[in-house]
Amino acid sequence: MKIAFFDAKPYDIPPFEKYARDVGAELKFFETKLDQDTAELARGSDAVCIFVNDTANAAVIDKLYAYGIRLIALRSAGYNNVDIKHAFGKIHVVHVPAYSPYAVAEHAMALLLELVRHLHKAYVRTRDFNFSLQGLTGFDLHGKTVGVIGTGKIGRIFMDICHGFGMNVLAYDKYPAENVGCRYVELDELLEKSDIVSLHCPLTEETKHIIGRQAIEKMKKGVILVNTSRGALVDAEALLEGIKARRIGGACLDVYEEEANIFFNDFSADIIDDDLLARLISMPNVIVTSHQAFLTEEALNNIAETTIRNIQSYFEKDGLCDNELCYRCGRIESCEKKRRQRCF
Ligand code: NAI
Repeated sequence: MKIAFFDAKPYDIPPFEKYARDVGAELKFFETKLDQDTAELARGSDAVCIFVNDTANAAVIDKLYAYGIRLIALRSAGYNNVDIKHAFGKIHVVHVPAYSPYAVAEHAMALLLELVRHLHKAYVRTRDFNFSLQGLTGFDLHGKTVGVIGTGKIGRIFMDICHGFGMNVLAYDKYPAENVGCRYVELDELLEKSDIVSLHCPLTEETKHIIGRQAIEKMKKGVILVNTSRGALVDAEALLEGIKARRIGGACLDVYEEEANIFFNDFSADIIDDDLLARLISMPNVIVTSHQAFLTEEALNNIAETTIRNIQSYFEKDGLCDNELCYRCGRIESCEKKRRQRCF
């Protein structure tokens, strides 16, 4: 099994090497992201392993298919960067459905606490021996209403954490689950009643810009928005307008619509071309982390172990393909649980 590993970072390599060694897989690490220009690097490999900002659109899939590659292994839960429909019948696509939902849910709460208690400012102040409290007044989370959009693995853990803080939880999900211990409401009601809105649904055609101008108009004045899911769930221009109009009280962003060529890179000695991101970062009530929510030791180990196992199942278990994303069934993820066979 020869695997071309794109967008490799130093923290990815040790856990992947460890699990690959166990099954005799050969990994070739490329720092560059997968796209139409770099797909050529995968020639001679049996599979490609990609992350959230690699691109596997129709053109890339056709190139990989022409090189004889039949498996794309996402080392992420989200798969909006892969054209699953186009891959159907050509290349099997696997992902890591859960590696540490705790990592993401805990990061969402960390961002929220940091913002509402101004910890990002306090940290900088005390490092400069400025012990003034002026401007650092926060508010209690206890008793506040949090609206959670998407009550899957991460959303549920985030709701548990919020319950632990004594918050009222409202939830919206296109496919509400039973026995989740939250009150499901329509999206509009959630937007109207929540002091904090946290996004935990996947990015689909339907959820793109779920938080846009119209949604922002419906939200409470001073609402805090938390997005640790996917950047394009939020219309970043509308968000900036809402912040400038003082309608939005703050934003915690681990993801950003145009993050692909920016996040995971060091631009500290460079010029950032993205004015919208620069303006958001300049706001005193916006905290941006660089798609970091997944980054815990536990998660990195689980990602490597599951990805290598997914790849192994395709090459070594006839007719099986663990954690395949199946386009045919419409419900791309849940299908695999039912059939436990290859999608095609
Ligand atoms: P999940 O699949 O367990 O849950 C997603 C939930 O969203 C499901 O309950 C589903 O019914 C719901 N949903 C689907 N369409 C919807 C719609 N139109 N409106 C409202 N809800 C809808 O996924 P999980 O593991 O909880 O992950 C959620 C998202 O978190 C992923 O899709 C991914 O984009 C993001 N993520 C971000 C990470 C980061 O490092 N920032 C790391 C891992 C995941």
